[in-house]
Amino acid sequence: MPESADSSNLMEALVSLAKRRGFIYQSSEIYGGLNGFFDYGPLGVELKRNIRDCWWRDMVQRREDIVGIETSIIMHPKVWEASGHVAGFSDPLVDCKVSKQRYRADQLFFAAVVVDGKTAGYVSALESERTGAELQEAAETFKRKKSLQGALEPVKVREFTEATEAEIPLVPSPATGEPGSLTAPRAFNMMFQTNVGAMSDASSVAYLRPETAQGMFVDFKNVVDTTRVKLPFGIAQVGKSFRNEITPRNFIFRSREFEQMEMEYFIHEDADWAKAHEEWIVWCENWLKSIGLPESHLSRYAHPKEKLAFYSRGTVDIMFKYPFGVQELWGIAARGNYDLTQHANASGKPQEMFDEATKKKFVPHVIEPAVGTDRIFLAVLTAAYAVEDVKDEKGNVEQRTVLRLSPRIAPVKVAILPLLKNKEQLTNRARALFEKLKRNYAVQYDDGGAIGKRYRRQDEAGTPWCVTIDFDTIEKPGDTFTLRERDSMAQKRITEAELFALLAEHVY
Ligand code: GAP
Repeated sequence: MPESADSSNLMEALVSLAKRRGFIYQSSEIYGGLNGFFDYGPLGVELKRNIRDCWWRDMVQRREDIVGIETSIIMHPKVWEASGHVAGFSDPLVDCKVSKQRYRADQLFFAAVVVDGKTAGYVSALESERTGAELQEAAETFKRKKSLQGALEPVKVREFTEATEAEIPLVPSPATGEPGSLTAPRAFNMMFQTNVGAMSDASSVAYLRPETAQGMFVDFKNVVDTTRVKLPFGIAQVGKSFRNEITPRNFIFRSREFEQMEMEYFIHEDADWAKAHEEWIVWCENWLKSIGLPESHLSRYAHPKEKLAFYSRGTVDIMFKYPFGVQELWGIAARGNYDLTQHANASGKPQEMFDEATKKKFVPHVIEPAVGTDRIFLAVLTAAYAVEDVKDEKGNVEQRTVLRLSPRIAPVKVAILPLLKNKEQLTNRARALFEKLKRNYAVQYDDGGAIGKRYRRQDEAGTPWCVTIDFDTIEKPGDTFTLRERDSMAQKRITEAELFALLAEHVY
């Protein structure tokens, strides 16, 4: 999908920083890694936890109409039959019989090479921001190589899912550049299968959940019966989901094991669903801004009516401008009462509420904001990353890498730096401050190396503030420290009380 040189450079720089500073590692790296699986290192786990905790606080704890749950990853297999995942949670898979590469047919594009009104052959390209341009270039190359005379028509880009039986053998494989090796697309179910118990036969088949959402639907009645929720209300959950993606790619953007933060907001069947839907889209946009994503990188994509599932009334994705293109970050779907009705039918247990006004039972409808924590993680890294020229103490220009992370999610909020590590008066004061701060905040004590180097280290980790305990702290009245601000690099003197006030204002 990338692709200007700049955007792929940015992606490379992010992957490299993520590894170098312990944000993200490849899973099982010493064994060569496993495609589509990742580990979060010491800084990464803090950043991810902060994203999740901010979401939980804002979505659940700070609202009176939403409760949280945590359901099991492996559920009764009937859940996935009722939800439609066993029959339909699939992507169209295409094999290249020669290279053994696999493609998603909806990410593989082709075009006829038409010269003087006649089809002379076909060209193909994988999905990217330049798919159209790549196909046009390939068509021109094709014409030149075959020494075809006449006028080349502009290519018409088509998805491989639309290729006819006659066309499939004529489309070149992206791997080999030659036609004849691509198979017709076939449905590939993305659920990971496992077996529960000692027997490995059809009766013990179970699935790793491909979404957390079904947990909320299956526990709907439990929540209604054991809490005092009243419509409209939501049930939220954060947890791992698993999808055997055909083409995991773009680092943690599309992986096979990932975390979702989903919320099912139940409304009356007669409620204004479009209004509730719009309110949730706005809520999600504002929340993303509250953790530091710039508005300029966000946009909306409304799924065309004809592409929606039959039960869906509308889906809007909040899109983010990643280095590899504008891609889905957060989907907000109006799902009608499909899921509860499916589970009621399959289990024989009604999933209804009672309307006091009409004295009738009904099945609530649902608005579902569903987002991947890892996708937010990648978005915040992308938006926060900057390399800039700065002057050191002697006035020499040098480069610094900085992560301008919001204090809400930064892995370390404050670094405590004694100016010298062998001056007890400085280190004692620094340690005392550190001990006090760490009760409430993630803070780091760093006494290694020149102060400028320590600032750079914290800049790269995204630490919003550094506090230096210097000679003025111990020699002058007021017990003040030097506060150095990450983004502006401005320095000022601050008291302990002012530091706590600053943190209370920005870390929430
Ligand atoms: N319950 C609805 C649902 O799961 P989805 O659009 O398939 O909808 C919701 O997934 C969100 O989960 C996506 O918007 C994305 O942020 C995240 N997500 C989905 N597949 C992912 C993958 N393979 N890797 C990382 N995140 C993924």
